[in-house]
Amino acid sequence: MDFKGKVIVVTGASSGIGKSTAELLLENGAAVIGLDKNESSMQHERYRHYCLDIRNEQQIVSIVNEVENLYGRIDGLANCAGIYSNSKPFFELSFEEWDNVISTNLTGIFLLSKHIAGKMMKNKAGKIINISCIRSRIFRPEMADYAASKGGVVALTAAMALDLKDYNIQVNSVAPGFTYTGMTAESFNDAQIREFSESIIPAGRIADPKEIAKVVLFLLSDLSTYINGETIFVDGGFKISK
Ligand SMILES: NC(=O)c1ccc[n+]([C@@H]2O[C@H](COP(=O)([O-])OP(=O)(O)OC[C@H]3O[C@@H](n4cnc5c(N)ncnc54)[C@H](O)[C@@H]3O)[C@@H](O)[C@H]2O)c1
Repeated sequence: MDFKGKVIVVTGASSGIGKSTAELLLENGAAVIGLDKNESSMQHERYRHYCLDIRNEQQIVSIVNEVENLYGRIDGLANCAGIYSNSKPFFELSFEEWDNVISTNLTGIFLLSKHIAGKMMKNKAGKIINISCIRSRIFRPEMADYAASKGGVVALTAAMALDLKDYNIQVNSVAPGFTYTGMTAESFNDAQIREFSESIIPAGRIADPKEIAKVVLFLLSDLSTYINGETIFVDGGFKISK
């Protein structure tokens, strides 16, 4: 996939799926703007990093304007930043706990997409990719906040795609299954948890974040011009086994 001359913004770029996406984009020639609440270890002449909280609209507006002034355009956005749930039944969640997950995983995508779509609309071209999760469709107890945020991402993706239909901007989502990242390392380093997880995945193994990033790149590329409002599950067959 050729991303030479393309300017792509990646959130959650300091770790896991976002970091793999940024690395793969750089390997394929893109200029990458990484956004994360944490610093990045990435060193590359085409990589620029900003620390921001994706829940903070003021920070977003000022960084998006700066990026447009520096690069003159934004061709793609990969919304990869996210957090896991509080692992409690919904009736024990405080408003603050609920709101922290929803505002990061859902409102953050809305805010970034709103301000970057505004720039893309001027060029009548763009791609927005949102990271959802298998937990948008397949549930277990004690994840109401997370599941609601990820189901919301699927719906938001489709709704944004329709709002942008006259601007040649496609909006799609990727729903990963169990993936080894900063978010899950502690669990998957526990042999028992890993063995159990692998036993319920038809592929028989946990994904490497690069395997998710490859699909994000496909959706950001010119290979996917007729896919719109879609959510692609990248889960080693987990969904179809349920
Ligand atoms: N790892 C999995 O098994 C898995 C499965 C399905 C979906 N996902 C989703 O993939 C996405 C990426 O997760 P990951 O597994 O790579 O986790 P990760 O923890 O490795 O990376 C997430 C990144 O998002 C950043 N971030 C979190 N809150 C932020 C905020 N408010 N502002 C800015 N940056 C913020 C973190 O600093 C971190 O660098 C998440 O949306 C997650 O829900 C992960």
